[in-house]
Amino acid sequence: MAHSSMQTVAKEFPVETGVNRKDRRELATMLTQIVGSSHVLYAKMRGVHWNVVGPAFYSLHKMTEEQYEDLHVAIDDMAERIRAIGFAAPTGLKEMMENSVIADQEKLLTTNDMVTELVDDHEKMARLIRDGVAAAEEVDDVKTADLLTDRIGVHEEAAWMLRATLS
Ligand SMILES: [Fe+2]
Repeated sequence: MAHSSMQTVAKEFPVETGVNRKDRRELATMLTQIVGSSHVLYAKMRGVHWNVVGPAFYSLHKMTEEQYEDLHVAIDDMAERIRAIGFAAPTGLKEMMENSVIADQEKLLTTNDMVTELVDDHEKMARLIRDGVAAAEEVDDVKTADLLTDRIGVHEEAAWMLRATLS
């Protein structure tokens, strides 16, 4: 019964909620960049969670866990927003990485260096999302703007908390 729908690839579908297609297309591209970047950052945060050593072990181990769990939920909300505005969400790690402004952690560094990189990455995310909010507001997509606005503060707070652990 569900045979034909299960063979249909999720791509663009028509949306008539007041934001025109061209603008929704641009917002979807922007959200894809945020979701891709978030995936790479998520992996780096877990890398610190697992590999942290030194006197700040316990606080960094717990802090990164709280932060990546929060990001996990946010990624889902943002990817689903892409669907709600009519486009396909990214699928697979390659697509996430191709759309990421966050560089992958390719080798293990000292805890201090990895945390320093996370601080930079969270600030980069805050800037990326701030641009996203501006783009969404420009075309009156208040829902997307609202969803993203909260995330700016979360990344700013994460940058502060991580930075405060650095010696
Ligand atoms: Fe864990």
